[in-house]
Amino acid sequence: MTDAHLKELEERTSKAEKEAKVIEEELDRISNDDLSYLNDARLEKLLADNEKLKHRLAILENAVKVESTTSSKSISKPVRKRPTLISDISSVEGNICILEELKNIFEFAISSAYSNLVDPPVVLTLSGNNPKFGDYQCNSAMPISQLLKAKNIKTNPREVANNILNKTPTSPLIERIEVAGAGFLNIYLNKAFVEHILNCILRFGIKPPPVKRERIIVDFSSPNIAKEMHVGHLRSTIIGDSICRTLEFLNNDVLRINHLGDWGTQFGMLIAHLQDKYPDFKIHSPPISDLQAFYKESKKRFDEDEQFKKRAYTCVVQLQSGEPDIIAAWKLICEVSRQEFQKIYDRLDIKIIDRGESFYQSRMVRDVAFLKENGLLEEDEGRLIMWGNPDNHDNIPLTIVKSDGGFTYDTSDMSTIRQRVEDEKGDRFIYVTDAGQHTHFVVIEACAKRAGILKDQQKLEHVGFGVVLGEDKKKFKTRSGDTVKLIELLDEGLKRSLDKLIEKGRDKVLTAEELKEAQEAVAYGCIKYADLSHNRINDYIFSFDKMLDDKGNTAVYLLYALTRIRSIARTAKVSVAELMKKAQTTGIKFTHEAEWKLGKVLVRFPEVILKVSNDLFLHTLCEYLYEISTTFTEFYDKCYCVEKNKEGEIVNIFYERLMLCEVTACIMEKCFDILGIKTVSKM
Ligand code: ARG
Repeated sequence: MTDAHLKELEERTSKAEKEAKVIEEELDRISNDDLSYLNDARLEKLLADNEKLKHRLAILENAVKVESTTSSKSISKPVRKRPTLISDISSVEGNICILEELKNIFEFAISSAYSNLVDPPVVLTLSGNNPKFGDYQCNSAMPISQLLKAKNIKTNPREVANNILNKTPTSPLIERIEVAGAGFLNIYLNKAFVEHILNCILRFGIKPPPVKRERIIVDFSSPNIAKEMHVGHLRSTIIGDSICRTLEFLNNDVLRINHLGDWGTQFGMLIAHLQDKYPDFKIHSPPISDLQAFYKESKKRFDEDEQFKKRAYTCVVQLQSGEPDIIAAWKLICEVSRQEFQKIYDRLDIKIIDRGESFYQSRMVRDVAFLKENGLLEEDEGRLIMWGNPDNHDNIPLTIVKSDGGFTYDTSDMSTIRQRVEDEKGDRFIYVTDAGQHTHFVVIEACAKRAGILKDQQKLEHVGFGVVLGEDKKKFKTRSGDTVKLIELLDEGLKRSLDKLIEKGRDKVLTAEELKEAQEAVAYGCIKYADLSHNRINDYIFSFDKMLDDKGNTAVYLLYALTRIRSIARTAKVSVAELMKKAQTTGIKFTHEAEWKLGKVLVRFPEVILKVSNDLFLHTLCEYLYEISTTFTEFYDKCYCVEKNKEGEIVNIFYERLMLCEVTACIMEKCFDILGIKTVSKM
């Protein structure tokens, strides 16, 4: 077969596929609209068209089949089913992701205009603040023009942009599209469409954008028994919880795991010390309130006393072989730690399931044998190690078995990933720890792939974060140089937040109960928000003064903003029920530029949530929350919601604007909820 002939066949195939797709979409549209057309005179005609189209589709599908078998290249390229584009506003609910739909529209337009390009780039972004650039932009013309030039096809980005524009189907989302500058496609949203979405939210509440439900394992918090839970664990706890909340909101099946450091050689000395200090520990629970001190004592003995050291090692062996007395001692020590950790989780409202390293003991035995049998382990000075890539020793290897026969953190993480893949049947595997452990997880992933535990398309997602610094930009410490105890840190937050509320005279207007509620919401909210609002990869400076500032992007400012929005309708004595009822007849209508601007920010909620659920960067959600609040302020400055006379009596109520306030408050509340921050009605 000559090249020219093959090329022609390929072109015919691709043309036939495209025609088939257009018809398929048309068919979808007709069947979706069936009900609304039932009483329409056009129904007859549409049904007839439907029959004709079905017939043509069958012919074309057959043609595609024939062509595909003759043209070798088409066989390897599977035909992806293109999403059906939205054709009718009333079929849309409040959870639609506009960016996603625009991508679908332009994917269609671009592949129609340039069917000879394989996977042409579909670049869509939100436009900047300048209204001249539209609301969204399609910036595909430049890269496509480059691709064409590389094929010796003469063109320029503006021409490409115009060609794309000509193939763009009309959509109820879009008011108009302009070609601008060097070939940008500026997209302007349709007001009626945005109004419809907001009215849906008002009437039916906030619903998550539809995504494929996945089983997701999130490993976070994970402090170590008998050691201090430090600020690093606090970051992991806050970030991990918020990641879970995001994924849960999207209806995923999320398993929250606390991978406690509850196994290892340090337990030998702890148990030996316990036996000496509290010989009757099995009958009388020993009063260990300060496990850190207990740890220090046993460590001191371990380092100084040979006899004790020997006993400690024996205890480790006995622990691993499951000796009942030793297990009882170990359980006791773990329980003391757990109770301490739980105090933190209760205060911060964190739900998590304890499943520590000990859970994997028998699995480690099994998995080490498995790795050995498959020839994946190498001997290295008495240890057994495993390389992610045996031909490339750029990264460090895992230590699977120590020279004394013991297992390590690496061993437990190999068993952990296997258990999560095989028993938990996870689709996503997320680990939230400090950025310092990044290499560890890269190597675990590589080794898990090499061992066939992780399949090709599966990955391990390490959510790393930077260290917490004090205001002096040095490692976070107390004034006396000790590590900061988390409970004490939370207590200080409570104290400072109360001071702040009193400073603002809130104690005079709130009841004691309301004040306490506000104090806790502000204290824990500000600690969480300060952490989440920074790009997690960077180190961050812990400063109560900054996080309790009531100006700028802080939890305090945002919580105040929300209570103010909520109070607008309350002072006008308009209930939410009343607004919802009115929404069924009148609904939100944009009459002022500031309302329109706010509306366009509000409908971006699904887009922001989907982004966060993909890249797991929570600061995007915080920035969005802040943007809502500042855009709302702009709206409220410019637009009356309630008009009063000189006597302060209400003379006019703008219901549509109160509806906009209500939707704003709902979305803000949902954002707070996902960030794990409690809101209050008064503060
Ligand atoms: N306990 C570890 C630490 O304190 C974190 C564990 C993270 N999870 C894991 N599967 N390795 O650093």
